[in-house]
Amino acid sequence: MLYLRDAFPRERWTGALPETAAFWLQMHAGFRAQQVQMADAATRWRSGQLDPRGLHAALIPTLQAFLQHLDGHHRVESGHYFPQFRLIEPRIQTGLDLLDRDHDAIHAHLDALYHSAVAFHRGVAGQSSDAPDHAHRLADTLDRAAPSLTRHLDDEEDIVIPLLALKGASAA
Ligand SMILES: [Fe+2]
Ligand SMILES: [Fe+2]
Repeated sequence: MLYLRDAFPRERWTGALPETAAFWLQMHAGFRAQQVQMADAATRWRSGQLDPRGLHAALIPTLQAFLQHLDGHHRVESGHYFPQFRLIEPRIQTGLDLLDRDHDAIHAHLDALYHSAVAFHRGVAGQSSDAPDHAHRLADTLDRAAPSLTRHLDDEEDIVIPLLALKGASAA
């Protein structure tokens, strides 16, 4: 699955990328930045620097945007780009199958995050005594989701960026 990356390694992913490839990397950089921000909020909660209200303010707006954007991003990839890539580069079917399966697996994490976040939000809004329990559960759910998303962003870039750069003209 890595023959495309071998043909166009990361060292060459510089200024001259096609617009779609540059935009793709920019989107992924945004998701990584949001993940770092959310992990940081969870760390501050666990170390006692934030109370449940503080965690809510530091985490929930970012998480909300993250869930919406990532879900939309995956829909466009699986629904629009990947079918085009399958036609343009039939050799990469297995790689695209893997990325589509990743989307399903990540969707389950996003679902779990959404439900944990709603429970936490209700706990904080209702000033309920179980708000700290919900905060811990949400922080744990974030931890569980992080590795598969990080890995997916890297794996997808290894396939998509070379494909757009080498065959990009017809993939726009
Ligand atoms: Fe993806
Ligand atoms: Fe992506």
